[in-house]
Amino acid sequence: MSERLEDIAAAMAASGKGLLAADESSGTIKKRFDSIHVECTEENRRDYREMLFRSNEAMRNHISGVILFDETLRQKAADGTPLVDIIRASGAIPGIKVDGGAKPLAAHPGETITEGLDGLRERLAEYYRLGARFAKWRGVLSISSSLPTSGAVHANAHALARYAALCQEAGIVPIVEPEVVMDGKPGDHSIDRCFEVTEQVLRAVFAELYAARVNLEGTILKPNMVIDGKNARKASVEEVAEKTIRCLKATVPALIPGIAFLSGGQSDEEATAHLSAMNAGHDLPWQLTFSYGRALQAACLSAWGGKSENVAAGQRAFTHRAKMNGLAATGNWTPALEKAA
Ligand code: 13P
Repeated sequence: MSERLEDIAAAMAASGKGLLAADESSGTIKKRFDSIHVECTEENRRDYREMLFRSNEAMRNHISGVILFDETLRQKAADGTPLVDIIRASGAIPGIKVDGGAKPLAAHPGETITEGLDGLRERLAEYYRLGARFAKWRGVLSISSSLPTSGAVHANAHALARYAALCQEAGIVPIVEPEVVMDGKPGDHSIDRCFEVTEQVLRAVFAELYAARVNLEGTILKPNMVIDGKNARKASVEEVAEKTIRCLKATVPALIPGIAFLSGGQSDEEATAHLSAMNAGHDLPWQLTFSYGRALQAACLSAWGGKSENVAAGQRAFTHRAKMNGLAATGNWTPALEKAA
């Protein structure tokens, strides 16, 4: 594999492929396991993720990279093979979540700043040795009548830019993820309010990336789609696609090789339909693909249910979702393909 940042980023954004976000922190993966009544032990987390990474058809054909949590990057499969080697053998690139999570932002009630910059240079050097070639950092912005404040937007954009520059210094491609959440409180905002906030956030992020001297050709953007709040009316697939593309065209430089969306609480099929609509019939300067967590894993998680006899069923469910999203990444998904499964 080539080690230039630009080549790694281009491979992450390869046509018809996308990223598997399997980097749930210990707290988040416990919530997912609770939902299927499976105990959140280190071995169960390993077995679950090994099942995903050994889904050969999905991994080889539809997944360009996998975002891991620190524990997983160091873990071995049941037969002793490092999980990183299983990912690499499938042709996908291992990546690592390096942020320390969103913490309350002083003097900004209801808002957060993502921590983790102190000591990051040393941690990145170790992650590189362990095989990671890209990283992820998520900033979180919530919408209400008075939020986000410009203080929170700028603090998070600045942290993302400092993180991105440190990654590139270490030979690691940064995934820059400024998430405007759809499922915050009250979550009743309109798609147009999401447009306005996402535009403001992306402008701030690219201004900070520029100031920090980040190489855009070696950077992947992971944004939210422009979409109604979880508790608001639901815009049509076409409206989400049109408004998301308009917002991205207004803010994201054409030098960015790939934009890989988070799913953010959309259903599996909504996340696929939106991505496909954006890619169908639009002439775009960047690859538009997926970096889904929940929308790639939900069906697999429930098919598995923590039982070794269900591993094949879990892999079938994951392979189906990965295939549907791979088709969406080239604008070739249709609802009929879901039923053909
Ligand atoms: P979701 O697709 O579940 O939003 O997760 C993606 C992710 O990595 C959030 O940081």
